[in-house]
Order: sequence, then structure tokens, then C-alpha cells
Amino acid sequence: MRALAVLRALTAAGGRAAVSDLVRATGLARATADRLLSTLARLGHVRVEGRDAVLAPGLLELGNAYLAATGLPDRLGPLADRLADTLDESVSLAVPDGDGMRFVHQATRRRAMSLAFRIGDLLPAERGAPGALFAADWEPADWRRWRARRAADPADAGFPAVPPRGPEDAAPAGARRIAADFTARVAAARAAGWSPDDQLIEPGLVAVAMPVRDPAGGTVCAVSVVSHTSRHTAAALPDAVLCRLRDTVAAMEEALTAPSPAAAADARRPAAWRRASKQQLGPGFVESVARGLAVLTAFGTGRAALTLSAVAEATGLPRATARRALITLEHLGYTTARDGLFRPAPKVLDLGFAQLCGLTLPALARPHLAALAERVQDSASLAVLTADGADAGQTVQYVTGVPAARIMSVTISPGSRAPAHATAPGRVLLAARPAAGPAAPLADRAATGPAGLPALLDEVRADGHALVDDELEAGLRSVAVAVHDRTGRAVAAVGVSTHAGGRPPTATRAAVLPALRETAAAIEADLRVAGRYLPVPVP
Ligand code: PHB
Repeated sequence: MRALAVLRALTAAGGRAAVSDLVRATGLARATADRLLSTLARLGHVRVEGRDAVLAPGLLELGNAYLAATGLPDRLGPLADRLADTLDESVSLAVPDGDGMRFVHQATRRRAMSLAFRIGDLLPAERGAPGALFAADWEPADWRRWRARRAADPADAGFPAVPPRGPEDAAPAGARRIAADFTARVAAARAAGWSPDDQLIEPGLVAVAMPVRDPAGGTVCAVSVVSHTSRHTAAALPDAVLCRLRDTVAAMEEALTAPSPAAAADARRPAAWRRASKQQLGPGFVESVARGLAVLTAFGTGRAALTLSAVAEATGLPRATARRALITLEHLGYTTARDGLFRPAPKVLDLGFAQLCGLTLPALARPHLAALAERVQDSASLAVLTADGADAGQTVQYVTGVPAARIMSVTISPGSRAPAHATAPGRVLLAARPAAGPAAPLADRAATGPAGLPALLDEVRADGHALVDDELEAGLRSVAVAVHDRTGRAVAAVGVSTHAGGRPPTATRAAVLPALRETAAAIEADLRVAGRYLPVPVP
């Protein structure tokens, strides 16, 4: 519970906070907060950087487990993407979450002027097209909860993803108007089977949503087509899109009847990992935290609803321990229980998912490069092959780097470019290309030997790294290895640059390669988690 409070406080702070501020926000003792953070750091869910704690990409494992368990992005996402392509408008999937709605997929064609929601963002039900569809199924208790929330928070301050309501809307008369409008829209949605959004979130933003039902008739999620008044008025949007939206919903409902996919264990750590961590970190590893969070990753593809025994088996926990963890998680809203089956709840996405969504490859790589630079006492950098311009695929661009903490360190500025064949990262990336392109003319200093570039790239492929000595610039030596995404494609290269300083290449290799390979593996692990449901942008 306390670890979840730390993660929520860190999420509320935007993903980074001074540990002292977390202590204040959670009311925990400093020593407790430190132990929880060190446990979460071991799990890869946070990083501690000096006085700050930062959400780390590994935390996306939890949200990924929820999304994989629902199967919605996997099964319906491609259909949503196709609709977005057909209509050339944004299309999203949202699920009901209490008296709100939460986005689980976005196919964004967002143009200027409107905000885009991230996966995991929570909106009040009354401020979007899907909410009226979900509320059509509400029981009196749900309406009571909704009225209580509206009374307590008339400006929607508790929903950081939406612009707050103005003073007029937040005043009692405004709140009454909003309540009357919502109940009318819910009744209309129930009757029509679709629901409009006429600028409920912000001026200009309009949408139409339809529910997607499971074979038993329950509403699983809603598909929205989102546009802007500069393209469609709210009144005209339904005519323009409803026909195609209906076809997509039919295809989605069909997709939901397909047999559930084979169970996959996406992100589970064995009990032995917890024991080893405890042995290593002692009081800095709170086992109950690791056990509780392990329960959330017991869910996944083909594992939407699990019995207590299945959770115990998947996590390697005794049944009594698994039961206690499930009771705590259910109490906090992260899992639900019905008929002896436990399911993850959309609130899992509250744990930093939206904050970590926009993570780019350089941002993801930087902490690993910093650790590498510190370890080898040399400059570390990440480079990609350029994809644009006349020199596309022939030039490497350094996207981020961390200089060594020494006076005479090699500095490579982010954004700087170099001919790919003359640099270690460039050769690694050229060697990884499916079919090596035509050899480019080589720079004067590039010693490629008589066989030229193709033979050299064969060597790089065989070695799994490139070492380039004195070729681009006298005295400079660099070593690089590839970084692969979850599909196995080499998307970047991580390199260490150093002054040759009289050492033979073998000495540099011995000093640098193991750390370099571990760094690439760590970046790849983050990339696998972060790229599960979202493309990770390179620049
Ligand atoms: C969105 O996906 O951004 C969206 C969906 C439904 C709305 C508004 C925005 O009503």
C-alpha cells in the first residue's frame, strides 16, 4: 500500500519529485520512503537520481499487464487504426473506470489546436462522448458516486488530463446545468446507441462515440472518432462518420468473439529473484512490495481473469500471501474480484503510465549512458542512422550523449552528424541493415582495407561490435554495439568514445565492451517494455 502511495505521489508530481517532497506528500517516515524507493528501484519502477526520485520505464510493465489482459489494444487497436486511416481523423478506445473513462488506445491524427490524450489518461464521464455511453449502464449507486464527486470537485481539479472548468461552470448554477445536460445526453445515448461530444473538453474538439459490447451484451469499451470544428461541426460529424464507425464496431465485436489468445508470461520475475534481491539489499528490499506488485504482472495476454491458485502459481507466492496482496489491491481499486476470479482494473494505468507514455529513445537511454560513462570513465553516446535528406542511411546522427567526468573527455554534441562508414556506431548500424546498400565513397582516413566496406561490415556482424581507430579524427577511438527494439531491428547504436592514448585496441575492447553490451541490453529491456503498446520516438 505504501509503495503504491509513493508511485501515485510521484505520478501526481509529473514523474519526478524530490524524495523530501514525496515524504511530505505520503506522510511516510523518511527511512521508510528510502526503503520503498530502493525496492521500487530494484524492480525498475523508479530511479533515484541524487535527491530526486523519477518514474522509470520498467513501471510500464504494470500497465502493460493490464492492457494485455484486456486484450483491447491487441485485438481492437488495429481496427481503430484502420478507421483513423480511412476517415483521416483521430480514433481512440476508452474503457469505463468508476464514474470516469480512461483511454487505452489512441490512433492520433491530431492537427493543430487540440490536445491529445495519452494512454492511461482519466477523464470525468460527463466530459466526453464515451462517458454518456458508459453511464447508460449505471446503477443508482453509480449515480450517487458521480453526484458526490461533482459536488466535491465542480472544477474537475482531480482530473489533470482535462482543462479545469471556468468559474461559471464550477458555480452551483453551472453545476446544475452540467448535471441536467449529462443526464439528458445519457438518455439520448441509450436510445440512439451512439453519443456526441460538442466541445465538452475544450473549444473546437468534437467527437462521436459508439459502445463495443462483448457477446454477453456488456459494454467493454467505446470507440470515438475525434475531430475539430475547423473540419466538421458537431452537428455534421455524425453524418460524416457514423456509417464507418458502425462497421468498425461490428468488426470489433466480431474480434472479441475470437478464441482468447495463448497465455503469455510477459513480465514475470521468479520468486528466486525476490530472494536474491533480499539477500543483496537487506532492509533496502521490502519483499511485501515486490510480492504485491508481482500479483499485478500475473495478468497478461490470455490471462484476463485468474483464480487465486493461478495467481499464486504465476507469482510463486503462497496462496495466503497472494490472497492478502489481492485483498489490498482490490481495496485500492487496482484489481476486481467476482465469482472467484480476479482481474486487473483500469486504475493500474494510474501508476505513471500516461507520464511514461511519451518517452523518447534518447530520454530512455540517457540514464543508462550516464551509468556507462561513469563506469568506463569515458564519453558515452547514442546514435541513429539518419532517415531523411540526400544522405539518408549514410550518415549517423548523435541523439544524446553523456561526457566523461574528466577534463580531457571527448565531447559529441547531440544533433551532430558524421559519415556512417567512418564511425563505430555508423558501422554497427550499416552492418545491421537487412541488405547492405551500395558502398559509399570512404573518407580519406577511413582504413577499410583492400576488400572495402562490405568486408568490414561482415567483420562487424561477426564481432557484434565495431571499433574505429583514428579514422574520423586522429587520436579518437570509438567502440559501439547495436540497440535492438522488441522486433529485433537495430534502431540505434550505443558507443563509447575515448582518446586512444597509446593503448592497443585490444585493451580498449577489454575495458569497454562488457559494459557497453550490458548498457545496450538495459536499453533494450526498457525499449521492450516502453514499446509494447506505443512506438518509442527516436528523436
Ligand atoms: C479523444 O480520444 O481524445 C477523445 C475521445 C472522445 C471525446 C473527446 C476526445 O469525446
